[in-house]
Amino acid sequence: MREIKTTSVAETEAFAEDFAKTLKAKDVLAFFGEMGAGKTAFVRGLAKGLGITENISSPTFAIVNDYGALAHFDMYRIETWEDLYSTGFFDCIDQGKILAVEWSENIENALPENAIRITITKGEGENDRTITIEGETE
Ligand SMILES: Nc1ncnc2c1ncn2[C@@H]1O[C@H](COP(=O)(O)OP(=O)(O)OP(=O)(O)O)[C@@H](O)[C@H]1O
Ligand SMILES: [Mg+2]
Repeated sequence: MREIKTTSVAETEAFAEDFAKTLKAKDVLAFFGEMGAGKTAFVRGLAKGLGITENISSPTFAIVNDYGALAHFDMYRIETWEDLYSTGFFDCIDQGKILAVEWSENIENALPENAIRITITKGEGENDRTITIEGETE
């Protein structure tokens, strides 16, 4: 397990950009953490690190934004296995994409065993965040 503390959104994005370079196809990044924790901010940095130039927006309503090598999910509204199947989650895994999955709390039972778990929690100051990373394959 690894723990990183950041004190700005830019710092979180920069860390994620760097972290992206350690990833390979089929990695599933499972994000945990409350609303406004910084999950989407992390994915924005991740995408940059993977060379994706599109704007990264929250897929809260779309459920999934597919950037090719990276698929970005927001499982906030997912309640059943049927919901989950219809998002294309399992198809994206089969296609060997890197997955970034916000609100993994909601699909805990469907996460692959080797998922990399990233938990973001708020700290004392408004811009303080603690990021813990478990299950890295490096
Ligand atoms: N150190 C930090 N790291 C990341 N975000 C930060 C930090 N400090 C402040 N912020 C702010 O916190 C917010 C994080 O928003 P973001 O959309 O990334 O959260 P989220 O976890 O994806 O929320 P949701 O569950 O609603 O999707 C942004 O407004 C960002 O500017
Ligand atoms: Mg988000």
